[in-house]
Amino acid sequence: MSSTKTHVGKYEFENCLMNAAGVCCYDRNELEKMIHSEAGTFVTKSATLNPREGNPQPRYYDTELGCINSMGLPNLGIDYYLEYLLELQERLSERTFFLSMTGLSSEEIHILMKKVLDSGFKGPTELNLSCPNVPGKPQLAYDLQTTEQILSEVFEYFDRPLGIKLPPYFDIVHFDQAAAVFNKFPLTFVNCVNSIGNGLVINDESVVIKPKNGFGGIGGQYIKPTALANVHAFYQRLNPSIQIIGTGGVLTGRDAFEHILCGASMIQIGTSLEKEGTEVFSRVTHELKEIMDEKGYKTLEDFKGKLKYL
Ligand code: DHB
Repeated sequence: MSSTKTHVGKYEFENCLMNAAGVCCYDRNELEKMIHSEAGTFVTKSATLNPREGNPQPRYYDTELGCINSMGLPNLGIDYYLEYLLELQERLSERTFFLSMTGLSSEEIHILMKKVLDSGFKGPTELNLSCPNVPGKPQLAYDLQTTEQILSEVFEYFDRPLGIKLPPYFDIVHFDQAAAVFNKFPLTFVNCVNSIGNGLVINDESVVIKPKNGFGGIGGQYIKPTALANVHAFYQRLNPSIQIIGTGGVLTGRDAFEHILCGASMIQIGTSLEKEGTEVFSRVTHELKEIMDEKGYKTLEDFKGKLKYL
């Protein structure tokens, strides 16, 4: 029998599928649904220091091939998610869950990181450097100089497992430059990719979401080739100690298989989870195992990163 077990850093997971931050992870109720699904773990909604209501509605819209969103970081604040994760650390001590967080300034990032340190949370933290939806705040990871500055400050005191959520890059030189920066740090993982920022979806003669006159992050099937390129570009360039989480355009077991071929150790599902609910995890797991069985692969290691070139 094939297995979809995986590990990220020192953490082991029974299944390589999980949610993408932002979907099914706003509060305890949604996170409990994740725990009871086939997913191997969950990540919380990216937390800020203070709770936020987010942008005006409508701020999410499904299309045939994906979705557009400009949520604006609605979340319950870091203390809420940390309290819940600490509770799970007792209740489900054999399992591991991810905390996602993001600061709107470097000062806020440091306050958040120190809160995590002081809390006793033992799981992996994902620092989101790629939110495209807060008016006036650019995606941090497109500014590599500031990103390097922040990471070097953070790693002066943060000694727990840390990964970063990245926006998609679109140029080979940018892959080279970004990887050169990330390789300077003891990151546990990088997560490729966040939504493709600032697309536009039009219905009849109008935009479909209210914030920023309709501009928003694009997810779903539109973005799979971009996501795969980013996963593989970083798999080729990063120190082998930095693992890759693959996110973007995973609708089927075949999509998950392709992410793993490109080098992903863990796969996140966003748009399809929003559209289908947590049943998506059992369906995609089953489809992925069917492909592995057909090919005679027993574990993810049998094909991870083994993309063939012509
Ligand atoms: C939001 C969207 C993102 O893509 C992200 O990384 C963080 C937050 C949002 O709009 O809430």
